[in-house]
Amino acid sequence: MTSKPQAKYLHDYQPPTHVVENLSLTFELDPQHTKVTARFILTAQGDTSSVILDGVELTLNSVHVDGQVHTNYRLHDTGLELFGLGERAEIEIVNTISPGANTSLEGLYLSDGAYCTQCEAEGFRKITYFLDRPDVLTTYNVKIIGPKQMPYLLSNGNKVDSGELSDGRHYVCWEDPFKKPSYLFALVAGDFDVLTDQFETRTGRKVDLQLFVDKGNLSKAPHAMTSLKKAMAWDEQRFDLEYDLDIYMIVAVDFFNMGAMENKGLNVFNSACVLANQETATDRDFHIIESIVGHEYFHNWTGNRVTCRDWFQLSLKEGLTVFRDQEFSSDLGSRALNRIDAVNTVRTHQFAEDAGPMAHPIRPQQVIEMNNFYTVTVYNKGAEVIRMMHTILGEAGFQKGMKLYFERHDGQAVTCDDFVAAMSDANGKDLSQFKLWYNQVGTPKVSARTNYDDQQGEFTLHLAQSHADNDPVEAPLHIPVAIELLDKQGQVIKVPESTAKQGKVLELTEKQQSFVFCGLESEPVIVLLEGFSAPCLLSYDYQQHQLLHIAKFASSDYARWEAIQQLYKAEIKTLVKTQAFSEYQLPECLTQALSMLLDDLSGDLSILAELFTVPGFDALSAEYTPVPVAQLDQAISTVEYQIAEQLKPAWCAAYSQLQDDGSLDAVAVAIRTMKNKCLFYLAQVSDSQIQGWIQAQSESHNMTLKLGAIRAAVNAQHVLTQLLLDDFDKQWQSDLLVMDKWFALQASRRDERCIDNILSLYTHPCFDKANPNRVRALIGAFTRTNPRHFHREDGRGYEVLADLIAELNQVNPQNAARIITPLLSFKRFDETRQGLMRAQLEKLARLPELSDDLYEKIDKALN
Ligand code: TRP
Ligand code: ZN
Repeated sequence: MTSKPQAKYLHDYQPPTHVVENLSLTFELDPQHTKVTARFILTAQGDTSSVILDGVELTLNSVHVDGQVHTNYRLHDTGLELFGLGERAEIEIVNTISPGANTSLEGLYLSDGAYCTQCEAEGFRKITYFLDRPDVLTTYNVKIIGPKQMPYLLSNGNKVDSGELSDGRHYVCWEDPFKKPSYLFALVAGDFDVLTDQFETRTGRKVDLQLFVDKGNLSKAPHAMTSLKKAMAWDEQRFDLEYDLDIYMIVAVDFFNMGAMENKGLNVFNSACVLANQETATDRDFHIIESIVGHEYFHNWTGNRVTCRDWFQLSLKEGLTVFRDQEFSSDLGSRALNRIDAVNTVRTHQFAEDAGPMAHPIRPQQVIEMNNFYTVTVYNKGAEVIRMMHTILGEAGFQKGMKLYFERHDGQAVTCDDFVAAMSDANGKDLSQFKLWYNQVGTPKVSARTNYDDQQGEFTLHLAQSHADNDPVEAPLHIPVAIELLDKQGQVIKVPESTAKQGKVLELTEKQQSFVFCGLESEPVIVLLEGFSAPCLLSYDYQQHQLLHIAKFASSDYARWEAIQQLYKAEIKTLVKTQAFSEYQLPECLTQALSMLLDDLSGDLSILAELFTVPGFDALSAEYTPVPVAQLDQAISTVEYQIAEQLKPAWCAAYSQLQDDGSLDAVAVAIRTMKNKCLFYLAQVSDSQIQGWIQAQSESHNMTLKLGAIRAAVNAQHVLTQLLLDDFDKQWQSDLLVMDKWFALQASRRDERCIDNILSLYTHPCFDKANPNRVRALIGAFTRTNPRHFHREDGRGYEVLADLIAELNQVNPQNAARIITPLLSFKRFDETRQGLMRAQLEKLARLPELSDDLYEKIDKALN
């Protein structure tokens, strides 16, 4: 029995014992025995004469101090302790590693024959012994020696030397002038196709842009390159930030645990987040690529130039950079659509995390395995917290804060407190209460009551806030509550600046607070928490007619979408209660409102498609304990079926009218989105004409349309399903990223054979359990999109997931711990399912050599 993994605590933070002056690294690449030579100068901060260097799974060859062989050291499980150092010591360490045997995709590993690294968060210690913590910053010189079959030997910064060796190998030397922590180090070696371009910064500097992709994939690279140039220009315009090196490289690799990594000057990307052409990628993929390329680029300032003091501060760079990439997408595309997207993520996934055993603040206070904290809470709720500051300070005030932040902290490793202090000081605004957002856990609730005094024409809004049961923070939070008042005719009522900032933002700072609106002619309808101005649950007793009023008249598309979501939600909840599925009909007023919407195709069709998107199982299950699995699933399908049936002629009319020009501009994208929405509903009420449409659209050369047709068929269990899936399989086996779409479709099938089918797909020639993209496509999609089978009452869904996790525990602990999430919230389900889920977790808990990643999550869930 090994000892239990120990948590680290934020309050135990100690500054590093030593500073490092220039790290020089030499790599002699070899799949089994890569030799790493590290040279650096350590200077003690205080009277320390020993130092502990982090290092795991390394073979130590030699240690030299000040040029002499040094034997005064002790090897620990997770590091190397050197004794007898002077105040200043020149260290040389040689060790070997085995990238070919590294399946964890952390440290130095092989991805389809190419060497690459992933060092965030604590992967550098799998490469060499070092102070592997983000507050130890230094410059790097890197020499890579590799075989000539690998023409590209890449690392951070500028190429300063290269040459041939007598033994047939070659080498390249790199110098990164910017000090950086070890998590931003990167090395890539391999043979690639390269797309090159150039960006001229606003001060006229020319930056070489290079995008490295697997051989044969050049035609799928231009979109990522265009996105990069847009991101560089946008950061200059909106944030006044210019790129700082003369070269920017992006490498796409097939084996990668996450989306992408912002290593200084050398981003490494999951190929799924780079490669796209219209035949292989959907419009959604194009959008995601643009936002991730932006995200990693924006890290150059928010993450690299100013980095985190310790990993508890992760949201300092991630929350802020997600906020920045959301703004990038919103400025370049549709603000409303991007907001709907972001809100859906928070409401479905982040709120679920809040309600489960892994609930944590955006700045966690205790961590066992840091990789477990790259979460929707740190990233997406973190971005909401930044957005609230933006709402409170306004764009100009926020930018003043950013400017001060960089003036104060460029080149430093800092904390979330430092960020808020810059915002506060630049604006003379007290944000001390606001800072509670960094400690609070769970989803805060805002409850609203209103009353109207007819005589006085006075409308009063009573707001109350309460915190989640698992929240240690009891004091009231500082919550920006955006509102809108609509009069009887649907006109927006002006609210004076003295009541609401920018005419719409109320600052809720007390447990209970009332706001009075005077001079009204009749009782208004109020839109609350408009634009999701705070990551809270709202409780307000909306009447159906009020929601319909908002859906019709609210000034923002977001508010209209939100109102319709509430209307759908109310229908589904009623159905779950009555279980009168067969008699159910959409209420007349809702059908009318929807049919009015559908009759007018002159507006933004992407928004229109969102208005016809019914909230999903994950979003709704949060409303119940225990989750009524079967009823909820059936209620959602029933409401969708009604929308299909009641509006069938309108869906047909719309479908036959919509014609896109095949381009990627917003209008064409919107038309395709709406076409797919039409087919989604039509497939459920199919006739021979509709079957013809599905068949024809599935043969499109545009992946958005093709997939839309097949997805509609799969969802409706249409007779064409098997045929379309088989055709797709035959056509795309040579493109694994496309096959991921097919695996996800298979995983979402509703028929009884679903699970047997999934198990048989493990032996499909394209499937590989060691590849996180494949696992996410098949098993991730299964647990996310197929509640009916994942939550089967015989427990087979849980078993399939747990068995795969057990296999991945050793192979790729990080990925194993990612896919376990749906099992953790077993307490939200009925007793039978709880028992089954718990049994699987207990089975996993008994695994020999359970990884820290899994241990932390399972232990929290079970205890
Ligand atoms: N910093 C990366 C980002 O958000 C996240 C990331 C990429 C990561 N790869 C990782 C985090 C591996 C942990 C482990 O842009
Ligand atoms: Zn990031």
